[in-house]
Amino acid sequence: MARDLYQKCRDYRDSSDARAQGFYPYFRCIDETHGNHVVCEGESKIMIGSNNYLGLAQDERVIEAACDATRKFGAGCTGSRLLNGTIQLHTRLEEALAEFLQRDAVLLFSTGFFANQGALSALTEEGDVILCDRENHASIIDGCQFAPAKLVPYRHNSVESLRNRLKRQTPESGKLVVMDGVFSMSGDIADLPPQLEAAQEYGARVYVDEAHSLGVIGPKGRGAVHHFGLNDDVDIVMGTFSKSLGSMGGFIAGDAQMIEYLKHRARCLIFTASLAPAVAGGVLKALEIMQQEPERAEHLWRNTRKMHEGFKSLGFKIGSTQSPIVPILIGSEARAFQFTQRLFEEGVFATPAIYPAVRYGEAIVRTSYMADHTDDDLDKVLEVFGKLARELGTFDDPAYAATGKRKANVFDFRLKDPTEESQQPEVVATSSNNGSDEHSIAPR
Ligand SMILES: Cc1ncc(COP(=O)(O)O)c(C=O)c1O
Repeated sequence: MARDLYQKCRDYRDSSDARAQGFYPYFRCIDETHGNHVVCEGESKIMIGSNNYLGLAQDERVIEAACDATRKFGAGCTGSRLLNGTIQLHTRLEEALAEFLQRDAVLLFSTGFFANQGALSALTEEGDVILCDRENHASIIDGCQFAPAKLVPYRHNSVESLRNRLKRQTPESGKLVVMDGVFSMSGDIADLPPQLEAAQEYGARVYVDEAHSLGVIGPKGRGAVHHFGLNDDVDIVMGTFSKSLGSMGGFIAGDAQMIEYLKHRARCLIFTASLAPAVAGGVLKALEIMQQEPERAEHLWRNTRKMHEGFKSLGFKIGSTQSPIVPILIGSEARAFQFTQRLFEEGVFATPAIYPAVRYGEAIVRTSYMADHTDDDLDKVLEVFGKLARELGTFDDPAYAATGKRKANVFDFRLKDPTEESQQPEVVATSSNNGSDEHSIAPR
């Protein structure tokens, strides 16, 4: 009998099993958003699962600019940038971003994901090599897999590992070192200066994804590259509008000739409709406000420090975060789901992250903070976390005790290095997991 392509869909049970056990944490429907609070299932929840770092997604001026753009240009551009889909708001936004980031030129993409995929696949050729930090975002990893270049992962934030891999490449291959500026799960900042030095030594170009660093770190929120004062040395900067700028879309910034090349070679730009007018208009306004109101980032950092200290003093492990992304290590996937569900019931909206989004056996509740969280919100969040850790026995769980201790390079974590021998995930203590760690409902 012919194999039915849909059989795997019929066999798929992970999400329904999780629902049946009462801890399915994804696709929660939000009925209303009021700044840092959302209404779900008729109840208000404090949102600590959003990347709206500066609170600009709900800013009245941004909303008004998005409405004006819609009135002027319509609900959509109904075409690609290359053809009929370039409006004056796109070019104004590109110019404003280039000026803000002190770069020659900028090119907008319809999502941040597309910006990575489009740039990485267009910029490399057969015989080239992309050296990729293992904790880079999925859009970089997928972008690398679309690219004709060979993908060579290196250990997270490790200049030794990067250097080792650079050493093994031939001088003839074009080389690109790619890293997140702020890593989306661990919240740590790229150790850019030594990695840049190594890249330069081997003639490699450097590409930094500023998705979580734009608006958050660096002078005036210009991102990780500016934070280290290395704007003149890093070749390509990628960014998104879906975090601090409160909307959606992405961009690549760099040398004018490179941008000109991407404009005519990046398939994710050429073969998709351009950013909707509302998005371009809203982001332009958000970028302006971000520069005029530095107090937003100051407040974000006050909140961030409060939460780093607060979680640590409650006894939680928060890894090596240096940013408003605060991963709360739980260990077992089942317990991370259970914790998240109880948070929701107690009025706190957060989401869990499990392997392969994080290391195997190191499931987290991923939390992130905004400029407009009040002290009362944050005190309530800390109180609920403390209460649930006691109620659920989080700190007594052997899987929790094992977190944060593993050697990063022995894990099959997001990316396999074909040159490494051990690729099997280590088995971790699961005695108190009720066998539920079998669930893998996170996207692969
Ligand atoms: C580091 C990083 N890069 C790229 C992206 C993709 O951006 P977008 O959601 O705007 O498509 C994300 C999204 O979370 C991200 O965290």
